[in-house]
This record gives sequence, structure tokens and C-alpha cells, in this order.
Amino acid sequence: MAKLRAAIIGAGQIARKSHIPNYLSMGDEVEIVGICDRNIEAAMSAAAENGIPDWFSDHKEMLKMVKPDIVNVCVPNKFHYAAVFDSLDAGCHVLCEKPPGISYKEAELMMKKSEECKRLLSYGFHLRHGENVRIMKEKALNGEFGQIYFVKAEWLRRRGIPGWGNFTNSDIQGGGPLIDIGVHMLDIAVYLMDYPEIDHVSATSHDLIGKRKGVGLMGDWDPDKFNVEDSLFGFIRFKDGSSLSISNSFALNMKEKDRKNLEIYGDRLGASIFPPETFGEERSMLTNTEYPFAKDDDLHFKSLLNFVKACRGEAELLVTAKQGAYVQKMVEALYESSLRGEPVRL
Ligand SMILES: NC(=O)c1ccc[n+]([C@@H]2O[C@H](COP(=O)([O-])OP(=O)(O)OC[C@H]3O[C@@H](n4cnc5c(N)ncnc54)[C@H](O)[C@@H]3O)[C@@H](O)[C@H]2O)c1
Repeated sequence: MAKLRAAIIGAGQIARKSHIPNYLSMGDEVEIVGICDRNIEAAMSAAAENGIPDWFSDHKEMLKMVKPDIVNVCVPNKFHYAAVFDSLDAGCHVLCEKPPGISYKEAELMMKKSEECKRLLSYGFHLRHGENVRIMKEKALNGEFGQIYFVKAEWLRRRGIPGWGNFTNSDIQGGGPLIDIGVHMLDIAVYLMDYPEIDHVSATSHDLIGKRKGVGLMGDWDPDKFNVEDSLFGFIRFKDGSSLSISNSFALNMKEKDRKNLEIYGDRLGASIFPPETFGEERSMLTNTEYPFAKDDDLHFKSLLNFVKACRGEAELLVTAKQGAYVQKMVEALYESSLRGEPVRL
């Protein structure tokens, strides 16, 4: 089968560390035919370093000139929408980095556009591709948890405010740790809960640590330019009576440098998924079960491979545009509640 012709929009960190090397390692499946960055020097150097034949500063021109089959969108969040929309319009399947966009409206319009164009749209929620998530999804589908009534999701960093890029710029990223790292945990949580209908959302957010100078474990940030939350704590109640709590921080006074987990509570079984363990009761005994777990360090590769196989019709797309829109709706409501200081009904 002919190789898929891939084009990349955005030649920054994630394109260079993940998308380009992963596609280059799929020699028989994909060839990268063009790269674009509005900073033409970034596009040129990424092309030169990786043997990409064409580079551009404008994605529309690239789409017209190289006519790719698939497009990977690796620009900051604010620019996802235009890049995704134009790529779908040009007849391409699209893998866009997470989050889908900076508003639910954008995520919904991108989903509708992909349906209208009959092209696949997926998002870079790479944690979804982990073996731990697969094990738990299988258990959920088999009914092993019984009724899942509470999920606790958290990704907390002690002083992990990124000192590079746009991660502390709300205008470009749409928010801080919730939209950057929390979105991964929300994505896994609702995938395992099977997307229950949301009743209401409530959250508080804070920026006291981010707005002053301090110790940086991920580089130094500029407190004067910090206009995102440094932490957010939220609660989502679903119409079926189940609930989800989400805690995220770039900076929080806590013991560990970084803590990421998702806990599932069902009436038959509970679980903790980083690493995967379950907790139940059998023959009048309480049971704890660990799962042989090969550390997944190739989740970005798995995410791209699933997208490529789905474009070829050889696999089902794991992360869909509809699921991305659902997650974006929660993110938007959490921010709205934290700003308004009251619950948001959906
Ligand atoms: N899945 C993950 O683990 C992961 C990790 C890091 C970043 N990301 C996501 O990847 C995206 C990019 O992040 P990054 O860290 O690579 O950012 P970055 O700032 O390193 O790179 C972004 C690049 O896009 C270019 N750009 C900006 N606007 C453009 C436009 N309209 N057209 C063309 N090029 C444009 C910039 O010049 C820059 O070179 C973000 O959405 C981020 O959330 C995902």
C-alpha cells in the first residue's frame, strides 16, 4: 500500500520531539512531505534536520502545494481551530494536539466539519493509549467495577510551571494546568465512565504562587506575564448520580514533585491506574491485585500509529472528535464556574 503523505503544521517542541521522529520511524506507513511554521526559520530547520522536502510559513499554501493525505497540527492551542478546519477542508484526515481548542464552540465546529468532510479528526490524548487504561476499560466493559459512582482524577505538580513556551499565557493556551495536563486526566476518566451526561460543574482556581517569583522545577517563569491559574479543583456531577473530581496544579505546596493518578470507585471493584491495581472482595476476603505492567514510554508513537491505521481503515480510531468535544465542554465549564464563583449547569 502506498505511504500516507503527511504534513505538519507547527515546528516547535512537540512536533520535533514526537510527531516527526515517530513518523520517521514508521518508514513503510508514512512520508512527511511538508512542514509549516509561521516562523519560517523553524520550518526550514526542522525540514533540514529531518529530510522533509518542502517547508512553508502558511498552512493554507502548504495544503495547496503538497496535497497531503494527513495533517498533524502542532501549534499552540489558540491556533488549532484554523489549522484543523482548513486541513479538513482540504480533504485531509487530521491529528491535532490536545486540547482540541480553546472553547467548546471550536471543538464542536471541528467535529461537525470532520463529519461534513467525512474525514477523521483525532486529538493527541496520548495517555489514552496506555496499557493501564486498556486494562481498566476492559474491566469497565465487562462490568467488573459494578456501578462506577465516583472517579478521582489528579495531576499535580509542586513547582512545575513551564518556564518556556506559552503555557502561562491564557490568551494563547486558553488556561493553565487544567487545559494543559488536567485535560489528559479528564479524557481518561470520562472514557472509563463512558461519557455520562453532565448535570453540573463546580470549581475553584488560584494563582497566588504563579503570580510571585519562586523556585522553578521546570525552568523559571515570569510572574508578571503569568495570567493562568496555578491550580484548579473541580467537581462534576453527572445526571446518573455519579461524580468526578479533578485536581490540577502547576504549583502547589505538596510533598511530591509530580503526582498523577486516577482512582475509580465501583460497588464491586475499585482501582488506581498509575500503576494499575484493583481492590475488591472475594469469598469473604478483601483482595488487592496488581497487573504485570510494562512501563509505557511510547504512548505518543501509539497515538500516531492508531491514527495512521485508522486513516488506512485498518483500526478503529481510539480518540474521536466527539470525545474531544465532550472533554472541552467540561474544561470550559470548570473555568466558567471558577470565574463566576458558582456551579455551572449544563
Ligand atoms: N501531548 C502532549 O504531551 C503535548 C506536549 C506538549 C505540547 N502539546 C501540545 O502541542 C501544541 C504545541 O505545543 P509546543 O510545546 O510544541 O509549542 P511550541 O511553542 O514549542 O511550538 C509551536 C510552534 O507553532 C508555531 N506557530 C504558532 N502559530 C502558528 C500558526 N498559526 N501557523 C503555523 N505555525 C504556528 C510557532 O512558531 C512554534 O514554532 C500545544 O497545543 C500543546 O498543548 C502536547
